[in-house]
Amino acid sequence: MLSTKRVAAAFLAAFTTLSSATSIPISHPTEFGPSKAAARQNAFDIFNAIHSAMRQWGSSLNHNGMSLFLATIPAGVLLHHGTHSPTPPQGPEWLAFEIEHAELFAHPSMRGPPMKPTPPLPSPQQQQQQQQQQQHPLLQHNPHPTNDTPPPEHGYLHTYLTTAPLPLLYLDGTSAGNTLMGTLDTQDLLLRLNRSASLWDEPGRARELCDLVTSWGLHGVIRMEAGFEVIKCDFSMGMELLSAGRRPEVGEPGGDAGRRVVMFEYVRAVGRRYGGIGGNRVGVDWGSMVSAWFYYGGVDLRDGEGRPRLVGVGDEELRGIRGRVEEVVRGRRGGGERVIDWQGVVDSVVERYADRLKYMAEGVESVEMMRGEVNGLLNTYIDYGVKDEGYQAAMGRCARFHAHGVIQETQEDELILTAIEAVTLRICSTLFGVRKLVVEDPQADDASVNAAKQSLRGLMDKLRWTRWKECAACSFDELCFWRSKSERQQKQCVSRESNAGPIDGNDGFYH
Ligand SMILES: *[C@@H]1O[C@H](CO)[C@@H](O)[C@H](O)[C@H]1NC(C)=O
Repeated sequence: MLSTKRVAAAFLAAFTTLSSATSIPISHPTEFGPSKAAARQNAFDIFNAIHSAMRQWGSSLNHNGMSLFLATIPAGVLLHHGTHSPTPPQGPEWLAFEIEHAELFAHPSMRGPPMKPTPPLPSPQQQQQQQQQQQHPLLQHNPHPTNDTPPPEHGYLHTYLTTAPLPLLYLDGTSAGNTLMGTLDTQDLLLRLNRSASLWDEPGRARELCDLVTSWGLHGVIRMEAGFEVIKCDFSMGMELLSAGRRPEVGEPGGDAGRRVVMFEYVRAVGRRYGGIGGNRVGVDWGSMVSAWFYYGGVDLRDGEGRPRLVGVGDEELRGIRGRVEEVVRGRRGGGERVIDWQGVVDSVVERYADRLKYMAEGVESVEMMRGEVNGLLNTYIDYGVKDEGYQAAMGRCARFHAHGVIQETQEDELILTAIEAVTLRICSTLFGVRKLVVEDPQADDASVNAAKQSLRGLMDKLRWTRWKECAACSFDELCFWRSKSERQQKQCVSRESNAGPIDGNDGFYH
């Protein structure tokens, strides 16, 4: 299993030297390629992409993914498929990690083509309207069964067991969200090189993605909507059918759950996985990360509303990035490489600073309190027995602390490290600035505290950690989601009975 060869970078021997064996091709101004300058400029996005990868919460908030990873489902994992036939499909078809996600597609109300139906294309006006109204990707489970196919008899829930490790291409963000907001950019623009692909052409999308990734030796694609899913290219490979149980009809005992309830149970199950799908069901090869963020500096990749997009990227450049994805996947799909746990590194940074920064920026009320917080964070890095002009050495230790001991091996590792260190340097320099205000200045007063708070708020605006929007403390029968459309962004608890926004698809679950 992949997890056994993952290396927790944080626990590597502290004395290992930082390797400079790998080198990023030096991009000529006229030559297109990844660069450390771009990694530094997009450091906060790269950091957050790693933090959110394979996690429902962050990947909903940051719904437009710009990054691709090689990811492997080990043998022995259960995957589910809801359909209206007891026999396995050939593929490409969809598999869900959560049972409730697949149950939805086996429910009588979902009659019509199996998982991932294709509703009729919206009219241009509807598309425009959708574009204007949609500030957030929606739950898109609205099959409009065509009238010319007779409704199938019953629904079935298939459960499969993987019998071999399945290497897959993971597309980050809400990449299974059928929206016009950019959630499909890495699929339609980058992988398919198609600028006019129709939103709802899921079968075409699946077929073309499968043609591409199977030629690289992969079994399919991992994407996320409300719930993570696999587009499995060939159902006869690497897994076996365990069961295909018939679902109850409405009116049959056990079959009285209406569509609303099924929808609620679905999002409720998915909400349990905000922090990750768990169970080591997917191992991400972090060193295989290829991101558009590695290629472009600054604002180039954002639209007028600040959303990451690939629409402005030329075909040649898209081909260049896709070529690198292929190269990395072909080179690493066999496994066996040492995989640095970059998400572990990023998590350790977020765990150490997230709550404290928020408390310092919002809760602290006196010089003494601010002093206590900042000393608690920075004393770790300061050697009070040594003269350190401007705390330059301490700042360096602070910035490198969490990635200390990592020996980067791939070009992508080096770009990731560059991004992480740019983020930690920003945190550390802000904190040393706060220290100067409230610790080094014996005359520090309320004005110093306010100045410190202001710089901490500036830092938080840059970091944009999804941790600061987390849901907690809803009742056991409720789903917690983030309401970002309302004036005051806030969490909301939704029960089966409440008129649930996210279930009707207007807000909340996606952002
Ligand atoms: C893009 O996809 C659409 C279907 O969604 C197809 O009709 C069109 O031919 C494709 N264009 C290219 C350039 O492949």
